[in-house]
Amino acid sequence: MRSTEARGAALDRLSRPMRDLRISVIDSCNFRCPYCMPAEVFGEDYTFLRRQELLTFTEMVRLARIFASFGVVKIKLTGGEPLLRPWLPELVRMLRTIDGIEDIGLITNGALLAGLVQPLKASGLGRLTVSLDSLDEATFARLSGRGHRLAQVLEAIAAAERAGFGAMKLNMVVQRGINDHEVVDMVRRFRHTLHIVRFIEYMDVGNLNGWSPERVVPSRETLARVARVFPVEPLEPNYRGEVARRYRFLDGSGEIGFISSITQPFCGGCSRVRLSADGKLYTCLFARSGTDLKGPLRAGADDREIARIVEETWSMRRDRYSEERGAAPSGGGRKIEMFHIGG
Ligand code: GTP
Ligand code: 5AD
Ligand code: SF4
Ligand code: SF4
Repeated sequence: MRSTEARGAALDRLSRPMRDLRISVIDSCNFRCPYCMPAEVFGEDYTFLRRQELLTFTEMVRLARIFASFGVVKIKLTGGEPLLRPWLPELVRMLRTIDGIEDIGLITNGALLAGLVQPLKASGLGRLTVSLDSLDEATFARLSGRGHRLAQVLEAIAAAERAGFGAMKLNMVVQRGINDHEVVDMVRRFRHTLHIVRFIEYMDVGNLNGWSPERVVPSRETLARVARVFPVEPLEPNYRGEVARRYRFLDGSGEIGFISSITQPFCGGCSRVRLSADGKLYTCLFARSGTDLKGPLRAGADDREIARIVEETWSMRRDRYSEERGAAPSGGGRKIEMFHIGG
């Protein structure tokens, strides 16, 4: 195993450290969620990255080790749909060998999860987050953009519980007039389990989802709707820069979270760095460009040289898109699409 040269914490222009690394392992997806990859735009013939364009596991691990040397302690595997990447449990196993990495999680749409929970658990994957936008079969099928079955995802959640993934996060993107009437049902269904439902405000990520502010349901509205039926009280954040605001039910039946990028942005403590499947480093979910790491890597750069590029990029970072939203866009070009960096 390559030894890790400790480089010490890297701080960006706003004094934010690098703590969380989100690795997109593949850009393609078996869903076509309208808020991410609308089916009208991403048809059957849409071309995703080719195999040779994707970082190999060895390259990902080498980069992750460099990120860890700057203070990254947490890794989240994402996509597209990460479970479409063959041999994913092997990647988890490899990432676990990195000094300093305390936590490896995965975010999935759940359709392929049931068959993979055992190998993922055996690989040492710590945590699972499942996207779940509706508990109504027809709405779920429509929101998946490909007619997927809700039952399959619910079965996968049950299979994951049996495999030992006790407390999962269940992410629901709340859209007005589409699924906002289901928020109380979602809570009712998962109260008394260890799972934490998180309501996400529909975000203006990417350029192609036809986002409009009228579709956004502010978290305070969702919270009020839930609290009328199931009273809650706020919880302290688990750590600085936590994405979700947490609440617990007064009757002790569990907790929920709200991710409010539109109405209560959380850029101040944002310590997330993102690596796309084709090896670009992005310092914001709403970035317009990334820094290529795969090119130098494949051209033979050593770890020190790659580390220099990472440090330089992070030290220049001043992203706070959600806080500046509405102000003149910084820099030209189009925003990166969500499925390239996985949320
Ligand atoms: P863990 O603490 O690792 O479980 O993850 P998390 O709480 O950061 O949440 P998760 O990975 O489930 O992310 C939930 C969703 O929040 C993402 O899919 C995004 O939609 C949104 N999100 C996460 N990080 C950011 C961020 O840095 N900025 C914005 N605007 N939204 C984010
Ligand atoms: N707004 C909010 N959340 C989104 N996600 C994808 N696109 C959007 C968007 N436009 C969420 C997914 C999933 C995670 C990867 O990101 O529902 O939970
Ligand atoms: Fe696929 Fe996730 Fe995008 Fe939906 S949000 S299309 S599941 S990558
Ligand atoms: Fe971080 Fe950018 Fe999201 Fe702000 S908008 S929290 S800087 S990823």
